[in-house]
Amino acid sequence: MMRKQSWLLKSSLLGLFFLTAYLMPPPDKTPPSDSVIPELRTQCPPGFRKNEHNECVAINLYQQYDSPNNQGVGGLQTAPPPIRDGFSPQQIDLGRYLFFDPVLSVDGKLSCASCHQPEKGFSDGLATSIGHQGKKLKRSAPSLWNVAYLERLFWDGRATTQEEQIQTSLYSKEEMANTPENLLHTLNGIEAYQKMFRAAFPRKDYNDGIALDEIYTAIAAFQSSLVSLNSRYDRYAHGYHEALNQKEIEGLNVFRSFVARCAECHTPPLFTNQQFAVIGSPEPTGVPLDPGAQVPFHDKSLRGAFKVPTLRNIEKTAPYMHSGSFPSLHEAVEFYTKGRGHAVPEDETLYLHWHIWEPNLSGYEIDRLVDFLKTLTDEAFMPQVPKTLPSELISNALNSKDPGT
Ligand code: HEC
Ligand code: HEC
Repeated sequence: MMRKQSWLLKSSLLGLFFLTAYLMPPPDKTPPSDSVIPELRTQCPPGFRKNEHNECVAINLYQQYDSPNNQGVGGLQTAPPPIRDGFSPQQIDLGRYLFFDPVLSVDGKLSCASCHQPEKGFSDGLATSIGHQGKKLKRSAPSLWNVAYLERLFWDGRATTQEEQIQTSLYSKEEMANTPENLLHTLNGIEAYQKMFRAAFPRKDYNDGIALDEIYTAIAAFQSSLVSLNSRYDRYAHGYHEALNQKEIEGLNVFRSFVARCAECHTPPLFTNQQFAVIGSPEPTGVPLDPGAQVPFHDKSLRGAFKVPTLRNIEKTAPYMHSGSFPSLHEAVEFYTKGRGHAVPEDETLYLHWHIWEPNLSGYEIDRLVDFLKTLTDEAFMPQVPKTLPSELISNALNSKDPGT
């Protein structure tokens, strides 16, 4: 009796299995169901507190100090400048998917993360980046840590807002080479993105689909969440003196000294004063001088000037300078002591900054500076790389792309 029952059970289960298999559409034609569309996070990333308007507000220990203007330049306990915050957790999370998704580029091959790789300090390890169709670009990819504090973007400062910078990255023929029309068309064709944008930008009328502004806001929200202010150096600055060893403290002292003058431009806590300076760093052999900020500012005195870059996570972003001319941190630091203007082409007269001079640093001091710069590494708020991308969900489901491309 028992045996017969179990046989019956088995065969009916088997029948059920074949019946379902028969009724189910083949898996590669299934559109993504709600369950596989990623749910956007409702919590703010670390370093942000959610207020009653569902906005993520930055919190860090530097906010306890006075305004940067009340303190001497290079002081350790100074407030950072205002940060771009106030995005919702959903917008930040949607931006994370967009940032890693190559679907943003015209041929689906480059994502923001191709050139701003998390494990390389959000740079790419190249002297100058490789853009659309393998084109070698003129400048190196800057780190994106603490970009939310910056008043001007790009090496030459030609963008004044993140939205402007994001459009340059998306639509420049040399970078992602997309067009606004094509980008909208692509994203609106992906059901997963439609749902995610609706969750991140709730509004009554969604008949006209995803809007360009929403794309820019989401990307700005994500890159604004990349905050790095919790390094060993920061613990030292807040008063925990054991955070740095003796050699690193020596390096910090050289960095702040009136001989080396590093902190005059690379001012804590961001390690940039956000100004433009001509330091006369070299171009790679055979490459003509990059006019830098002269072009957007229409100012001859800014010929060869670049935005003072942050030194946060600098250990991770070799090679260094706007065209990646120094492979190591040691070489980048040594540049400052090789003689004022030593690398300026002979046919150029540049207005070198007055803090660029002849500090005659010893080999020992250069080594200590490098030790100190490595204490600025902090990746505690490293975001997670998405496991699946909304564009892949749709392309895998429709089997329109070879797996692995
Ligand atoms: C092909 C490589 C490449 C891609 C793709 C790319 N970038 Fe960049 N990014 C660069 C380079 C190179 C620069 C510096 C350009 C310059 O200063 O002229 C830069 C500059 C920036 C800056 C300015 C940082 C600063 O300190 O001034 C930000 C922010 C940025 N990119 C974010 C993004 C985002 C977001 C995306 C995707 C929408 C993106 N990038 C796509 C290479 C790339
Ligand atoms: C007059 C302002 C100024 C002073 C002083 C100064 N720097 Fe710089 N620093 C800059 C600028 C501007 C750049 C970018 C130049 C370029 O790309 O060609 C830069 C670039 C760097 C870089 C490479 C950053 C990157 O992301 O590639 C390092 C490292 C650096 N500086 C360290 C130092 C150290 C150490 C000192 C002191 C010995 C110092 N700087 C003094 C303005 C300054």
